[in-house]
Amino acid sequence: MQQQQTNWWKEGIVYQIYPCSFYDSNGDGIGDLQGIIQKLDHLKKLGVTILWLNPIYKSPNVDNGYDISDYQAILADYGTMADWEQLLAEVHKRDMKLIMDLVVNHTSDQHSWFTAACEGKDNPYRDYYTWRPAKNSKEPNNWCGHFFGSAWQYDSKSDEYYLHLFTPEQPDLNWENPKLRQEIYQMMNWWLAKGIDGFRMDVINMISKDQALPDATDGKKGEKYIYGGQYFLNGPRVHEFIQEMNQKVLTKYDIMTVGECPGAKLDDALLYVGKERNELDMLFQFELMDIDDAIGDGNRWNPKPWQLVDFKRVITHWQHGLHDKGWNANFLMNHDFPRALSRFGNDTLFRTKAASMLATLTLTLAGTPYIYQGEEIGMTNVAFDDIDNYRDIDTLNFYKEAKAAGRDHNEIMQLIHKRSRDNSRTPMQWDNSENAGFTSGTPWIKVNPNYNEINVELDQKHPESIYSYYQKLIALRKENPALIYGEYRPFLEEHPALFVYLRVLNGVKFLVLLNFSEHTIDFKCPEFKYSKLKLILSNYRSAINENIHHVIRPYAARVYKFGAACTLSGAKSGSDGKALESGLGAKPAW
Ligand code: GLC
Ligand code: CA
Repeated sequence: MQQQQTNWWKEGIVYQIYPCSFYDSNGDGIGDLQGIIQKLDHLKKLGVTILWLNPIYKSPNVDNGYDISDYQAILADYGTMADWEQLLAEVHKRDMKLIMDLVVNHTSDQHSWFTAACEGKDNPYRDYYTWRPAKNSKEPNNWCGHFFGSAWQYDSKSDEYYLHLFTPEQPDLNWENPKLRQEIYQMMNWWLAKGIDGFRMDVINMISKDQALPDATDGKKGEKYIYGGQYFLNGPRVHEFIQEMNQKVLTKYDIMTVGECPGAKLDDALLYVGKERNELDMLFQFELMDIDDAIGDGNRWNPKPWQLVDFKRVITHWQHGLHDKGWNANFLMNHDFPRALSRFGNDTLFRTKAASMLATLTLTLAGTPYIYQGEEIGMTNVAFDDIDNYRDIDTLNFYKEAKAAGRDHNEIMQLIHKRSRDNSRTPMQWDNSENAGFTSGTPWIKVNPNYNEINVELDQKHPESIYSYYQKLIALRKENPALIYGEYRPFLEEHPALFVYLRVLNGVKFLVLLNFSEHTIDFKCPEFKYSKLKLILSNYRSAINENIHHVIRPYAARVYKFGAACTLSGAKSGSDGKALESGLGAKPAW
């Protein structure tokens, strides 16, 4: 196998901080930069090496900071530019890296470019955005915004509409305009000159729209507004723009870039992160996140049950597809999705086991792992009874729409409990004092009431906690290049409950065995002796001496290392991987 090129961002472990919910240092109920500084030692102890901050720029906060009114200013709620500079210095002092969110598909409607653009058709900033007259006395096309309603907003002053793929307060930038692109590159260079270590690029695969702006056909017939992704996801000039950005900005620095690319398939991904492409280092693709989406349009409000076989198929597809051709970014959740533990694991009886099992998956796959705040202590979804306790614009809009459509309140709330983005946005649970130690004031969104049982202080005290399991797992990954660069080989692909794979590099082999169910699985492969398989990590204490053919308990996770001269009895010499395959492939008895 060809050796993959090594890199710090491939070896790094990213921790995503949602600043308003991380730690509030001044009692106004909103997490802030000084709060992050105070908690850096928590992150250092955990072992993560790269921090990604969701937007902290000046913003009216219609979409929690993804509506930026000044790219070069810090939102006052979060602190000052001096606080931010201190944060960067403190991060670097601890030998960690800091990456920032880059939101350049759209701005806030309060950005000076947009307010100027609204002054009139001949304003020089007019063309920084996309404006069109009405068509047949209606919107210029039938696209819907991501957060309900038309993607066009009428401006009575000019009698034209402007395009917004998200809320009306988030007008889309017009990347066709070369001056706009230069301004963005300048702004990026300005941040990079300050010493940041990279960018996470918000919906970067939406920046190029088909300029004919045709009516969408990629949705349910008869609906007034249709998604339209066919004309703006991975659009006509997107690679030209990103290559230009790479040349004007990215290539000058030793940084990492990760592009958020909804709807990107493997073929698209290879164009964004392919080795010779000079575009991005890695991307967030959403095939796994869409696995329980019944309609397949990325709309979170039509869920269906998910199956492990599909879950494994998606992961395997990407593990194979990018091997030696690009690089994966592995995550099970972020600020846009419910808690992975509640969604893919178990947040009641088997919470600790399921959280550590899911962690094992994220941290033993090929690609850079992303941990979202609270995952390291097994935080769960929340279920507020009252819609007034929710803050997310998408959730609130869904509630309004569903109510207007006559749907039952309880049914709507059940969906919200399962799917709302606020599930992952409740404050970080630090200890069992009031408001989970997050704030001494009133938190901007309520704390999950389970903070007495789930908090950092408790977990740090307990040697068998989720937090300490994460520490071990992170250390294991850092020490073993095979877990970072190794080839991925799946087994038992049709098994409905077990996820099993090898990671292999230069003769070093790891076997990862995960039980995604609440059942004990009697996993016997009597035809093989696995005496040379050494169990090096397990989320069950007594499993330390157990061999592979013993029962696999609910949500168990095990990592084995093959001994130097490992042969499996029944295996032909030199082909232990294959033999293992046939061994594991034998009809499991459970
Ligand atoms: C991305 C962000 C999400 C935001 C949207 C619009 O998907 O992750 O939080 O609402 O872009 O900027
Ligand atoms: Ca604060």
